[in-house]
Amino acid sequence: MSDLAPPAISVWQDLERRARAVLESYNFREIRTPMLEKTGVFQRSLGNTTDVVQKEMYTFEDRGGRSLSLRPEGTAGVMRFIAGAGPDFADARLYYMGPMFRCERPQAGRKRQFHQVGVEALGTAHPAVDAEVIALQMHLLSAWGLSDCTLQVNSRGLASDRDAVAAGLRSALEPHVSTLCDDCRRRMDSNVLRVLDCKQEDCRRVVEGLPPMSDFMTEESRKYLRDVLDTLDRLEIPAVFNPRLVRGLDYYVQTVWEITSSALGAQDALSGGGRYEISLGSKSIEGVGFAMGIERIIMALEAEGKTGGDSGKELVWVVSLGEKALDDNFKLAQTLRQRGIRCDMDLRGRSMKAQMRAANKASASHAVIRGEEEMEKGTFLLKNMKDGSQEELEMPELIERFSRALSLAGGE
Ligand code: HAM
Repeated sequence: MSDLAPPAISVWQDLERRARAVLESYNFREIRTPMLEKTGVFQRSLGNTTDVVQKEMYTFEDRGGRSLSLRPEGTAGVMRFIAGAGPDFADARLYYMGPMFRCERPQAGRKRQFHQVGVEALGTAHPAVDAEVIALQMHLLSAWGLSDCTLQVNSRGLASDRDAVAAGLRSALEPHVSTLCDDCRRRMDSNVLRVLDCKQEDCRRVVEGLPPMSDFMTEESRKYLRDVLDTLDRLEIPAVFNPRLVRGLDYYVQTVWEITSSALGAQDALSGGGRYEISLGSKSIEGVGFAMGIERIIMALEAEGKTGGDSGKELVWVVSLGEKALDDNFKLAQTLRQRGIRCDMDLRGRSMKAQMRAANKASASHAVIRGEEEMEKGTFLLKNMKDGSQEELEMPELIERFSRALSLAGGE
């Protein structure tokens, strides 16, 4: 688990700001659910036999003896909310950003506390909605400046196809059981789809020889997938059909997808998503969504050389010569701040040299210097910290100068 501190935090803030702008342009609204839920919320949504539930959750008993877990992903909590919300939320379009927790073996791109930006579009299934959510995701990636991404799409079939797909895969795998790893032999009975996801070399080779899952589905499921792929094609979104993509969570039905980046190493999944049907209590909830790992997005941006790590806003350092100027400059700093100008100063009355050193250390773009002489004239000395040039300005010019810089930095 990592602290997120300056200066790196500005990259996070920039990604979050751009994400909100894109998500809201598709009419998605933010939801913030608790980081802790009753363990059953995850068991029922993600599935009891999934790796996330079996091996990766931080689960503990609270003082009342209830089993609680830190959320390993965002969908289950949103579904718990939807199950209790009224009909106003039946077709809700929601997004979330925040920390998730999985007790996995840490490695590059895999953390125990990581962050996701995710969306859930509730409502009955339609291929155009799945394609729209994928389009939104591609839009987000390009708004963040990522280009080297591959979208892979598959279908798990309708919920009613589940038994036929499992039976088909089981009989296709039967002749190769002795080659499969211990985990996969167990998965043959408990959750055969997960064999397709195994990373072991021998299992992968067996999986490559299997017929595509769609062979075991109804024509209705196959047509749904074709419609999603055709819509993506019309939207000019390049997609690769990967008949072996299953995703690791049990709630998925029909469309599933993953986006990978060649800029990442072994953990190359930037994002995953799909359509789901989740039963909580007496309610069955349908929707489609995805989540992206922010740590991995930042790794990919770094690999593509696209993170500046700058907050984008200029910093003005107010420098005072003498005690009288100090009092007056405190007021000046407040005025600049009220106009949205990023501004700082030394309030302890230190020497001019110490103040200039502090300005340099803070990477100030400009220093506004004022002593008694400037106060009498009603002017300010503006020093450009990069090239050392100086000019004398009056208050309205000073404000105008930085307001302009601000509106340039603030624009998209
Ligand atoms: P997921 O594939 O488990 O899907 O996670 C989504 C993304 O979170 C991954 O592609 C990856 O970028 C990131 N991620 C997962 N685990 C870690 C980790 N330990 N360290 C760093 N990043 C990680 C879900 O979570 C689903 N809830 C997505 C979804 C929403 N499907 C429908 N709606």
